[in-house]
Amino acid sequence: MKVLVTGGTGLLGARLVPRLAAAGHQVRVMTHSGRKVVGAGSITGDLLTGAGVAEAVAGAECVVHLASSPRAETQKVDVLGTQGLVEMARRASVPHLVYVSIVGVDRVPYAYYKAKLAAEKAVQAGAVPWTILRATQFFSYIDILLRDRAEVPVMVVPKGWRLQPVDSGEVAAKVMECVLTGARGMLPEFGGPEVTTSELLAQAWKAAHAVHRPLVALPFPGRVSRALGKGGATCPDNRFGRISWTQWMAGARG
Ligand SMILES: NC(=O)c1ccc[n+]([C@@H]2O[C@H](COP(=O)([O-])OP(=O)(O)OC[C@H]3O[C@@H](n4cnc5c(N)ncnc54)[C@H](OP(=O)(O)O)[C@@H]3O)[C@@H](O)[C@H]2O)c1
Repeated sequence: MKVLVTGGTGLLGARLVPRLAAAGHQVRVMTHSGRKVVGAGSITGDLLTGAGVAEAVAGAECVVHLASSPRAETQKVDVLGTQGLVEMARRASVPHLVYVSIVGVDRVPYAYYKAKLAAEKAVQAGAVPWTILRATQFFSYIDILLRDRAEVPVMVVPKGWRLQPVDSGEVAAKVMECVLTGARGMLPEFGGPEVTTSELLAQAWKAAHAVHRPLVALPFPGRVSRALGKGGATCPDNRFGRISWTQWMAGARG
């Protein structure tokens, strides 16, 4: 199958693209920054301006939409960019679009999550048959955040956020299943095997990496923090991931 992966250079894309290519699919990655992914062709396309997007989707039998810009121009890239991508896919008669979203976008009042929810609606309102998969935070993402926090003498983490992270390789396997089965609408949320807290994740990370600097868990103010404390970004009934945080830190990958 000819598959276009937007954002195929990112954390999830890096696990999905080689998997698709190894299964014999013809994979193209759409990138706005020109980054390359081994084992796949690439094409330049920018969701912010729309440049190159029509060319990127042309001929695709499935578009997997992973591109996202949480830190800059989120409304334009994630919401308007998704609308534009869906419209270009319709014009190109693409038969299926898979969108990866985040567990809790409808429960946690975080600006980025609101944009993701609006992007989901753009996918649902479009004329291209769709599948949406919401996943919890990737271990690789939590690892980046904690590495960042360990750059300073005292590691400060939010206290009591309930989280259920998952291996992005296991999410990639689910996305690949979506590509093969065709449009299925809204899928059950996809979470990791353990519901835990931000401070327990950080403590385990410190132990796994023999980091000795002090860790302080502080209550973060605000509605987003309260929603995360109530488990708004978890899906305890959907523990589909098998690999635990400790196993992931020891090198296990799905
Ligand atoms: N990270 C998590 O924990 C997590 C959890 C659940 C769901 N998700 C969702 O899963 C998807 C993939 O997440 P990820 O963590 O793999 O993302 P990521 O590592 O941040 O990668 C996002 C990609 O988006 C592309 N991009 C950014 N701006 C763009 C633009 N203007 N035009 C075209 N492409 C653009 C970038 O590619 P180039 O720089 O090559 O253009 C980048 O590789 C996202 O939709 C995210 O919301 C993430």
